[in-house]
Amino acid sequence: MMQLDQAMLDRRSIRGFTDEPVAREVLEEIISLAIRAPSSMNTQPWHMHVLTGDVLEKVRAGNTERMLGGVPPSREIPAHGKYEGIHRDRQVEIAKQLFAAMGIERHDAEARQDWVMRGFRQFDAPVSVVVTYDRALDEHGPVAIFDAGAAVYGLVLAAWSRGLGAVINGQGIMQSPVVREHAEIPEDEVILTCVALGWPDHGFEANAVRSLRREVSEVATFQGFE
Ligand SMILES: Cc1cc2nc3c(=O)[nH]c(=O)nc-3n(C[C@H](O)[C@H](O)[C@H](O)COP(=O)(O)O)c2cc1C
Repeated sequence: MMQLDQAMLDRRSIRGFTDEPVAREVLEEIISLAIRAPSSMNTQPWHMHVLTGDVLEKVRAGNTERMLGGVPPSREIPAHGKYEGIHRDRQVEIAKQLFAAMGIERHDAEARQDWVMRGFRQFDAPVSVVVTYDRALDEHGPVAIFDAGAAVYGLVLAAWSRGLGAVINGQGIMQSPVVREHAEIPEDEVILTCVALGWPDHGFEANAVRSLRREVSEVATFQGFE
């Protein structure tokens, strides 16, 4: 097991996996760590629906069919829409890094489309963890999403610490009715995101991409220090 700082520094999104299954005990272990996340008033609004095998294949197939069939995305949380300005710039930056690693040319529409479809297939990962939160908390503002996000980061870090790879995968729940049906999500839960997870394929070039960050001096301001 790694030091926390090392895991935080080294972690990156993993989008290529081996076929090796992930043992249920390991998944239970990382979930038990993730749910130590803090939450508003300790409400613990999160649920994790862990999919593999046939169920996950049905989700992949359903997502693919609907996306190729032109069914508009339907998510259960508000859509973020098109990013602009600096946020768009950062989006383009990571896309360029990933495409360069994968050898996907700017004008190769087919290869780009293929990459996008991989996302809808949850990068063919052996496991997908669908994260939901209690619908009753929607009346209390967005804080339940904040809480569940903290648990998701914990999940990803705990996975990384064990040599597992993961990518938080908004694309995987973009056709939420498909996920809801096959994962048998109860009506009183809202689908937030999913996490594609498995043993990293170290030969998959995009797995080596290290996304960029701003300097602390650009992110943080300090008041009242010497
Ligand atoms: C809420 C959320 C949704 C995301 N959805 C996707 C996705 O649909 N497809 C994808 O390839 N990466 C997705 N990511 C991963 C981000 O692209 C990635 O975290 C970011 O580019 C930084 O890279 P890193 O995780 O390697 O540091 C998502 C991340 C978050 C937090």
